[in-house]
Amino acid sequence: MTEDLQQINLALLGFGSVGRAFARLLLLRRDWMHREFGLDWKITGIATQNHSMAIDHNGLPTMRILRAGKRDFSLDRFHQGPACSSNTDFIRQCGADVLFETSVFDPSGEPAATYIREALRAGLHVVTANKGPVAVHFRSLTRLARQRGVQFLYEGTVMDGAPVFNLVRQTLPSTRIRSLHGILNSTTNYILTQMEQGATFEAALRYVQKQGIAEANPAFDIDGWDAAAKISILIQALMGGTAKPEDIKREGISENTGRLVRAAVRRDRRIRLVARAYRKGRKVIGKIGPEELEIFDPLAAIRGLSNILILNTDTMRELAIIENNPTVEQTAFALFSDLVALLRRPQ
Ligand SMILES: NC(=O)c1ccc[n+]([C@@H]2O[C@H](COP(=O)([O-])OP(=O)(O)OC[C@H]3O[C@@H](n4cnc5c(N)ncnc54)[C@H](OP(=O)(O)O)[C@@H]3O)[C@@H](O)[C@H]2O)c1
Repeated sequence: MTEDLQQINLALLGFGSVGRAFARLLLLRRDWMHREFGLDWKITGIATQNHSMAIDHNGLPTMRILRAGKRDFSLDRFHQGPACSSNTDFIRQCGADVLFETSVFDPSGEPAATYIREALRAGLHVVTANKGPVAVHFRSLTRLARQRGVQFLYEGTVMDGAPVFNLVRQTLPSTRIRSLHGILNSTTNYILTQMEQGATFEAALRYVQKQGIAEANPAFDIDGWDAAAKISILIQALMGGTAKPEDIKREGISENTGRLVRAAVRRDRRIRLVARAYRKGRKVIGKIGPEELEIFDPLAAIRGLSNILILNTDTMRELAIIENNPTVEQTAFALFSDLVALLRRPQ
């Protein structure tokens, strides 16, 4: 049977919590892909920052690499062929049809945007879970993908694998989103709801870091940059606006927010870090900040790592998407669902 299967070559730029969870999910769904698409995959390249990179056009031994552990491993010993001196070299030589970009988030969008551009120019489809490059370079990257006849997909940038972009594009035809709001950052929501119960800011942050949910630099969560990048992507991809992360009015949370959180609880109210986008004339405005909410507000019921997005539309009125306590497995599913979307869409 294997001989009849078509092959697709995949490359992973970034092999941390998300990249590894995605590789595990690919292994679990291998038979499903055989049945659904008559397709088999192989990973022909993996690149990291501190653990080297490996290319093998015959397919890297995914299971063995995953078993090699996370900390003290080097990909060098799996590499076949001429040495690769940079990520640009890696992208050109990896022989992949699709690049999965999961390097670390930076509000500047770099260096990931450079890698994504390089891959699109080289004719690879690109799937990313990295908000930075999508938020900062949304128009130029989507245009470049169109020009090159490849796809650029980013479902995992907002609410992990919960369908946000796919939901609107595929199931809400001719719909105008008037405004949207929600809780889009798991780390800060966890800290806020733990502080309601008396936990310290530090202890709550340490927990989310241990779960692999916090950004590599947690200041990007706490200062609201992660949520700002997400609202910027929603504005550009779903509302036709142009607001980049630096255009979003942004206020994060701090140790001091704990006092406000406990005072709000005493009045039977809740503090949440709320992301909003709304139309003002021809512009779409975005803002992030802690808000004190009535107890019956749907956002007040969102606790722990959970997220919510409420779309105010001209067809379905208010529509809410809730993601309950996501883990890194749900982000991996976003990459997988983008891969499936890419295979289903006509090229
Ligand atoms: N974790 C989540 O739940 C989640 C949810 C949604 C979206 N995301 C996004 O997904 C991305 C990855 O998150 P993660 O949790 O997997 O992060 P992570 O565990 O810190 O892994 C990041 C990976 O990227 C590699 N890397 C960093 N800079 C690189 C560079 N310049 N070139 C090549 N590789 C580079 C790192 O290499 P080393 O291994 O050598 O350090 C590591 O393998 C981030 O953009 C994040 O915002 C994460």
